[in-house]
Amino acid sequence: MARSKNVYRCSECGAEAPQWTGWCSACDASGTLEQVTVTASGPRAPSSLAPSSPAMPIAEASVGGAVPVPLGIPEADRVLGGGLVPGSVTLLGGEPGVGKSTFLLHLAAAAANQGRRVLYVTAEESAQQVAARAERIGAVAQGLWLAAETVLPQVLGLVDDVKPDLLVVDSVQTLLDPEQGAVPGSLAQVRSCAQALVAEAKRRELTVVLVGHVTKDGALAGPKVLEHVVDTVLSFEGDRHHALRLLRATKHRFGGTHELGLFEMGDGGLMGVPDPSTLFLADRQVGVPGSVVVPVLDGHRPLLVELQALVVPTQAPMPRRTAQGVDSGRLAQVLAVLDRRAGVSVVKADVHVAVSGGVKVREPGADLAIALAVASAVTERPLPPQMVACGELGLCGGLRQVLGTDRRLAEAARLGFTSALAPSSAPDPPPGLRVDRCSSLLDAVAATRLVQR
Ligand code: TYD
Ligand code: MG
Repeated sequence: MARSKNVYRCSECGAEAPQWTGWCSACDASGTLEQVTVTASGPRAPSSLAPSSPAMPIAEASVGGAVPVPLGIPEADRVLGGGLVPGSVTLLGGEPGVGKSTFLLHLAAAAANQGRRVLYVTAEESAQQVAARAERIGAVAQGLWLAAETVLPQVLGLVDDVKPDLLVVDSVQTLLDPEQGAVPGSLAQVRSCAQALVAEAKRRELTVVLVGHVTKDGALAGPKVLEHVVDTVLSFEGDRHHALRLLRATKHRFGGTHELGLFEMGDGGLMGVPDPSTLFLADRQVGVPGSVVVPVLDGHRPLLVELQALVVPTQAPMPRRTAQGVDSGRLAQVLAVLDRRAGVSVVKADVHVAVSGGVKVREPGADLAIALAVASAVTERPLPPQMVACGELGLCGGLRQVLGTDRRLAEAARLGFTSALAPSSAPDPPPGLRVDRCSSLLDAVAATRLVQR
């Protein structure tokens, strides 16, 4: 017999809890548990049905697996491991205004130019707005169909009419399934719309790309559940004040998630950036104190970026520390090591550190470069212009090698740098680059003549 009971359901991820708590134990979202009444049926004897597809030996199952179809946008194909797999569903997340709609318009036009039939459904902007943008960015292509529609059954009707190979829906949060009473963007709506589109994708071998909005803290808004139903989750990131946009895969059922795609947003839309290091270093001033070039690794991709530091003496009891593109906790730690282990003190000074080009450096490989930039700013002595520095700094002042040092050094050599300051265990450098090995930060500041031993 059916019984009703009250449970608490998370509006973020859909997990249920028997009691109300401030946090959802499944996804850590706070204040998202809402009381719902569910009807539970009594225990049922399990019954077996004929399987819809029989089990088979794994070796046979893997033959002729998913084959990606290239989009013809090298930076996107790189992230997707070759392109979009027919019948797959991809979710593209990103903050409002970062350029998701622009990117998907480029993607849709590229697919259409390769002879595929593409349907772009806009559920946020009018068809005129999208068409005007397409014209501006050169994304008008034969085989690219456009419709403004927000109601799910109508979208499926459009798919019946147009019979596309690729369907783009911008965005899943503004789509409405009339069978669900809830408002668009709610968990029930988003889940229902996404599941219907996933079913359609599998049924027709239709490739689907959905836009999903993200909240301020960078999580996909509402539909955590959505991440589980789609095959690939892409994120589109960038700083509003800079032209650089980064494309990454955070989940990819058909390949790795280590590749990074780079684009530049301009008046004519997005352009791929095949050689980012050259772009980041284009306006570098050489021979100024406080500037260090560091080879960082983002996914598998080495990037050369310039780190800058400015140190200004102050009488204020609490000197300021600002970090742009660098983690502020990491900066505080590097300053402490610099003070205690290398004798470079900034306790009576404001310290500002920034990374050029709107890049965010999240890895410890930039520690040595941060320390050298600050030491160079304190002493007002510039570092050699053709030198790069990379290495992780331990609390005791020792230098450790970081992941992919060989690839970082190769990138530095490719761009014409002639020397690298690196930890003792660094691999042999490529031709044209000399490695100055240092076991500690004290060695490094002495080797660069910033501080006398
Ligand atoms: P959009 O693709 O609408 O972002 P999203 O869909 O993620 O909300 O892009 C919005 C921003 O991009 C807008 O503020 C202006 C900028 N932009 C350009 O700089 N150049 C262009 O060619 C286009 C189309 C947009
Ligand atoms: Mg948009």
